Amino acid sequence: MEFRCLAVDRDGQRPLTESWAGDTLVVGLFAGGGSGDGRGLAEELVGEALEGWLQRRRFEAKSGQTLTLERPGGTPATLILVGLGEPAEFGLDALRQAGAGAARTAASAGAEDLGLWFPLEGLEPAAAAAAMAEAVRLGLYDDQRFKSEAEPRSLPARVTLLGLGEAAAAGLAHVEATCSGVELARRLVAAPPNKATPQSLAEEAAAIADAFGLELKVLERADCEALGMGAYLGVAQGSDLPPKFIHLTFRPTGEVTRRVVLVGKGLTFDSGGYNLKTAGSQIEMMKYDMGGSAAVLGAARAIAEIRPAGLEVHVIVASCENMISGGAIHPGDVLTASNGKTIEINNTDAEGRLTLADALVYACGLEPDAIVDLATLTGACVIALGEEIAGLWSPSDGLAEALIAAGTAGGEALWRMPLRSSYKKGLKSHVADMKNTGPRPGGSITAALFLQDFVTRGLPWAHLDIAGTVWSDKVRGLDPAGATGFGVRTLVAWLVAGAAA
Ligand code: BES
Ligand code: MN
Ligand code: ZN
Repeated sequence: MEFRCLAVDRDGQRPLTESWAGDTLVVGLFAGGGSGDGRGLAEELVGEALEGWLQRRRFEAKSGQTLTLERPGGTPATLILVGLGEPAEFGLDALRQAGAGAARTAASAGAEDLGLWFPLEGLEPAAAAAAMAEAVRLGLYDDQRFKSEAEPRSLPARVTLLGLGEAAAAGLAHVEATCSGVELARRLVAAPPNKATPQSLAEEAAAIADAFGLELKVLERADCEALGMGAYLGVAQGSDLPPKFIHLTFRPTGEVTRRVVLVGKGLTFDSGGYNLKTAGSQIEMMKYDMGGSAAVLGAARAIAEIRPAGLEVHVIVASCENMISGGAIHPGDVLTASNGKTIEINNTDAEGRLTLADALVYACGLEPDAIVDLATLTGACVIALGEEIAGLWSPSDGLAEALIAAGTAGGEALWRMPLRSSYKKGLKSHVADMKNTGPRPGGSITAALFLQDFVTRGLPWAHLDIAGTVWSDKVRGLDPAGATGFGVRTLVAWLVAGAAA
């Protein structure tokens, strides 16, 4: 799919088709017959009959509504009207929503040369171009790897963003790299646990390293033992699959001005261990418990292609499975992490934080300017924020604000949650330095406080709990039903903007 911007003169008398002659045109209309929308353009093609036709079809331009008009032999041969809702509520998010919906309608109508025209007054042109292109590309994502026979499907070869000129075209610069990163993350998350294993994640990292010239180190169980990673290895010990501790490094061409570490939870399956997940706890979905690792690998792929100057980026994944066997950890075991802290395991299902503990200690050893971890860490975060918003915890106001801004730029919602230190009481243990699980109320907060104990004080660190956002049961905006690839766009936007903390 190739994207380009084309300035079209809407004030003058020249019809659109003099400068653009694709087969399918999408035109955005505001609810309430708002001015400045695509009505004039639609009338240019349909004539004065437009209003009557819209009324007959009960098209009110509500957001999400689309209406297709076939014009056999005409240019364009298909006109798709898409509702944008109220003009006052129209912004980049609504634009993404409309762009993805229109692209799906256009693709099923067989569009090959697709043009989109939306009223973009008041929006920054480059940001609008990026949002539209990402919405079209990611909205048309389709994964049929695990079907014996793929359903035939065609995608437009060319997509033209009409009404956007030179200034906007700059916004397209990172679309291909970013979307490839999101798609990689989606593929990894959607892959079932008999296909996506610690070994296959390490292979995926090797493929990125080979393709883009990154450095890769994979620590085996013995290497992790030598580093004293007892928390991570405790989780891994119940599985027949060996753990893989992945460390992928992107080094910039010139001088390094900032070094950052991205850490992703990489549980390729979470059975809960002896605190086995029961019916209703979504055990069959726990393939997506490596969503954090998918996001950081996706971001690594994107950054390796974009190559931002001055940034050194490390990606860390302590990958393993949480399983049951004669060798698995018992509830009640005491594990020692690589910073020497001892942890009483009062719940084997709180395993993510154990793997992250050793990963964070390792990350701090790299002496970075900032660390961001992403993890499908707690069901409590899903209860608090639902499926559209990820939780963010950070002691650093600067890093929290920069990440939230990056999320807004990329179209991913983050909400800052409290790192309230008094809640650490919930992790008090009588036998070890701490327990791995606190009380149910505030469960996502005690999880974040647990992680904080493994991060060097004063080092800017942020934790993103993506348990709710990693998967979507239905098509929503530019997300398909299934893996969303959440986190990649936020990370890429944050890194490209200089990884402020
Ligand atoms: N991977 C789960 C968290 C999760 C739950 C992600 C639902 C997505 C959807 C995590 O390892 C876990 O099991 N957390 C427990 C923690 C509890 C035992 C303190 C939870 O949230 O129930
Ligand atoms: Mn668990
Ligand atoms: Zn888990």
